[in-house]
Amino acid sequence: MRLPIPALVLAGLLPAAAAAQPPDSEALARRLLNSQGCKACHRIEAAGAVTGPNLEKIGSRLSREQLRTVLANPQKHHANGRIGDFSHLQPGEIDALTLFLSNRK
Ligand code: HEC
Repeated sequence: MRLPIPALVLAGLLPAAAAAQPPDSEALARRLLNSQGCKACHRIEAAGAVTGPNLEKIGSRLSREQLRTVLANPQKHHANGRIGDFSHLQPGEIDALTLFLSNRK
């Protein structure tokens, strides 16, 4: 059986690094980092505050699943419960952010 590449990535058969982020997804992630106020608390791509953890190399510390949980978790809070999380975003938006962050290494 011949599986398409994304299915192999999802199945964990290919390293996540093989999941190149399409330019539009990267642009979406950058837009969200601004529109969702992430940089009010986090440093990323040489911009932003350091109230929260620096995200410049977050992809080498957290897996994609962990990143997803930080952004949209069952308790629906972020920053140790001080702000709501990002569960209100579309699944595709969460995907774009998760992939973008996991590529920061
Ligand atoms: C009001 C400040 C604030 C905003 C806005 C905010 N965060 Fe955070 N974030 C924090 C704090 C504080 C923590 C650490 C506490 C925790 O883990 O809950 C954190 C944790 C994280 C972590 C885990 C970091 C680690 O080292 O474990 C990630 C990833 C993250 N935020 C991404 C984002 C993204 C992406 C956005 C925007 C969509 C965002 N944050 C918006 C304050 C914020």
